[in-house]
Amino acid sequence: MVTVLVDRVKPMASELAPLPEGVAEVIFSSAELAAAVGRLAERIAADYRDREVLLVGVLKGALFFAADLARALHRAGLAPDRMTLDFIAVSSYGNSRRSSGEVRLLKDTSESAEGRHVLIVEDIVDNGHTLHYLRSMFGGRAPASLAACALLDKPFHRGVDVPVEYVGLEAPDEFVVGYGLDYQESYRHLPYVARLHPWVYRD
Ligand code: PRP
Repeated sequence: MVTVLVDRVKPMASELAPLPEGVAEVIFSSAELAAAVGRLAERIAADYRDREVLLVGVLKGALFFAADLARALHRAGLAPDRMTLDFIAVSSYGNSRRSSGEVRLLKDTSESAEGRHVLIVEDIVDNGHTLHYLRSMFGGRAPASLAACALLDKPFHRGVDVPVEYVGLEAPDEFVVGYGLDYQESYRHLPYVARLHPWVYRD
């Protein structure tokens, strides 16, 4: 059980009303996200100070988080030759709001994981099937070590028990979008994490 203390930070003025059509409420402002990324980077930089880390961002959702985390690791003192950034693309949600549990590999990494200190970088862990799939896939590639970092942990509907070594924030038990997270490929580019009005996704 990971306990997360969230410093409530006011949304930036540009994140207050009017919110875009369909967005009901900002849950984590860009300032809160940046603070969470900074805290994660401090922990990771300390833990990997004697190892070279291979960061594997999970597309598409972790696009912004992985980019911000990589730069925060630099600010946290991780030497430039201690980190390699790579990406993998998987899909489990399709166009629905609930993960299907069936994970499809859309794009593999270009770097080999063998003998490397692999850190999987996820935007969110919900039922856990995606991370479980990735952990067993990378685990089978003989890495020197394997760990996972998630900006958001939504632990309420786990379908599988999967470890997450680094958690930024606990997400509420709601469908959230923004900062990489989408609904039917929209809302990814919001700089904050937000809740949608139910009418957006009402079936
Ligand atoms: C989302 C999210 C995580 C995964 C988490 O990806 O980005 O990778 O689902 O869900 P789970 O813990 O319930 O398995 P999605 O499959 O929607 O693809 P996307 O990142 O391209 O949006």
